[in-house]
Amino acid sequence: MPLEIDSDRLLAEIEALASISAADPPAVTRIVFTPADLKARAWLKAKCEEAGLVVRQDAIGNTFARWNGAESGAAVGTGSHMDAIPNAGKYDGVVGVLGGLEAIRALQRSGFRPRHSIELLVFTSEEPTRFGIGCLGSRLLSGTLSPDAAKRLTDKDGQSVEEVRRNEGLQGELKDVRLAEDYYKAFVELHIEQGPRLEREQFPLGVVTNIAAPASARIILEGAGGHAGSVLMPDRRDALCAAAELILAVENAARSSGAIDTVATVGICDVFPGAVNSIPSRVTLTVDIRDTDLKRRDGVMREMEVASHAISANRHVSIDTELLNADAPARCDPTIIDALSEACRKHQLSFLPMPSRAYHDSLFMSHVAPTAMLFIPCRHGYSHRPDEYASPEDIARGTLVLAETLAVLASG
Ligand code: GLV
Ligand code: MN
Ligand code: MN
Repeated sequence: MPLEIDSDRLLAEIEALASISAADPPAVTRIVFTPADLKARAWLKAKCEEAGLVVRQDAIGNTFARWNGAESGAAVGTGSHMDAIPNAGKYDGVVGVLGGLEAIRALQRSGFRPRHSIELLVFTSEEPTRFGIGCLGSRLLSGTLSPDAAKRLTDKDGQSVEEVRRNEGLQGELKDVRLAEDYYKAFVELHIEQGPRLEREQFPLGVVTNIAAPASARIILEGAGGHAGSVLMPDRRDALCAAAELILAVENAARSSGAIDTVATVGICDVFPGAVNSIPSRVTLTVDIRDTDLKRRDGVMREMEVASHAISANRHVSIDTELLNADAPARCDPTIIDALSEACRKHQLSFLPMPSRAYHDSLFMSHVAPTAMLFIPCRHGYSHRPDEYASPEDIARGTLVLAETLAVLASG
């Protein structure tokens, strides 16, 4: 039987999963270990079992669904995440999970018999929304985050990862989540591009060569509050004015790095007490800085530090920076890149070799397995918003190339 993707079923599943959400459609919100996430997990487990896969969960809730191969030993992995930031779309992560499942089912229907097992892996909490750090599951799988540090992470209500996962009935110890170096012989993640290049340059597929290095920090600025009418300007220690200077200093550092690959974002700015007639006494910012080049990324972080000191001294506002993560970039595995490229050629599909500017669980999987990624276009490059969209044709093409690649990797 030829290798064929059941596009109608895959699209129906993407819609079904999108309806498991804490937000009204078209928005999707699925924060890790909230009712929507738990319902999505149960829904997916049933789908995997229906496909005859053997499903297990580790202590942090990473889900493995395995199609056993003829030989025991290292498996070929594919997958992504199902959690979604507030007010997100339906494709980020989901295309890699449901596309991965459909790729396995397509191979089953074609009569393919894997020599090496093929495993779908659904990562816990790729998004940093709840515990402040992205890729919680893959950081633990790869040993990039220590189990003790993971346990202590808390959400906004002060609940720790350890409490939350135990409440959800996850058994075992976080220290056992780490994968052995020979667990996977290859790992491939299918994902929407989350940027505009494929659409603009009219490529149906992108083969990822490297993943940019992300870093993030939480910054707390403390000044002095007071009455907006009676405290005169020379006497003020306005935390928001200091934050405004810092935000622009970070933007300027990224803009003047000399490379288009440097990006910096302040995505959260919480102002206390937040009243029209009260001087802001405390501001909490989050800063996200990324680059394909580690030295340049670190250079922007140093510039931010220098600016913090100067602003703090000038304005008599304390500035306290807590580094949340500072990760290295990843290089994708040349053998898997070749397999993906060959699969594209086999189906007469052109592809663009390109970096991933977003981070993904693959960034961390690359520490424990040869890893690569396949991108499909998304309309206008939109992602992390309700109008995120990938066309049925692009989803089917990506899934087909993924299936073809898995077949090659699981045979070799
Ligand atoms: C992933 O969601 C990212 O922020 O790159
Ligand atoms: Mn995302
Ligand atoms: Mn994602």
